[in-house]
Amino acid sequence: MPEELAAALAASADRLGPFTPSRFRWFSETGSTNDLAAALADAGGEEGSVVAADRQTAGRGRLGRHWVSPPGAGIYMSAVLRPGPDAARLLTLAAGVAVADGIAAGSGLRTDVKWPNDVHVGGRKVAGILAEGAAAHVVVGIGINVSPAAYPPEVAVRATSIENELGRPVDRWLVLAECLAALASRYAQLQRGEGGALLAAWRERAGAMIGRTVEWTDGDTVRRGTACDIAADGALLVRASDAIVRIVSGEVRWP
Ligand code: BTN
Repeated sequence: MPEELAAALAASADRLGPFTPSRFRWFSETGSTNDLAAALADAGGEEGSVVAADRQTAGRGRLGRHWVSPPGAGIYMSAVLRPGPDAARLLTLAAGVAVADGIAAGSGLRTDVKWPNDVHVGGRKVAGILAEGAAAHVVVGIGINVSPAAYPPEVAVRATSIENELGRPVDRWLVLAECLAALASRYAQLQRGEGGALLAAWRERAGAMIGRTVEWTDGDTVRRGTACDIAADGALLVRASDAIVRIVSGEVRWP
């Protein structure tokens, strides 16, 4: 692994919880770090194992989308966790808060979280989370755009990067280490049964989302409402036609 990455992990080792540097695996190129981490978990890999790559050739986002992962321009990593069912339910939201906090600690950039799995700056996406579960483990995949890159036009219009927002270079390894440290801390909070505190932290970072119009698909119908809160189980609560609707999965759009 790059020396600077090893140094950044060593410097924050006492805050990494289960993500000890000895459980960190680095690849210069892979298909998807989520696939590697899932294979590792299936083979009995320890909780806290992390797989990261400089480049992904088959990076995946939610709903089967491609996650563009050019070399050297982002953070592409996946962590193996073994939470209980309660903690697993809120893990995507916990990872979103952790990534927002890790980006702030490692670069100074302030971001917002957006249900269910996005980290945004001024309406453009800077990071996303893909949590994929099996009975015995959850793989938390984190993709962060660090440097401006030649994204395809359909991605470029709605994406941004930390460096693009700040107008200066940032230390990619410091951001990575800070995100892992923040994830360790939020995961510990969930494991202690403090889901309420996690949701409060999420709400604090979701100010830009509450009160906004949201669209979702219900069968064949596109419905529209106003995002008003998040439920104790992580569902998005939307006011639509005088009723509160719970959205638990699927695609939501923020027109
Ligand atoms: C999304 O916003 O739809 C989620 C994007 C998640 C991308 C990350 S990059 C590291 C990990 N490996 C993958 O193939 N996907 C996740």
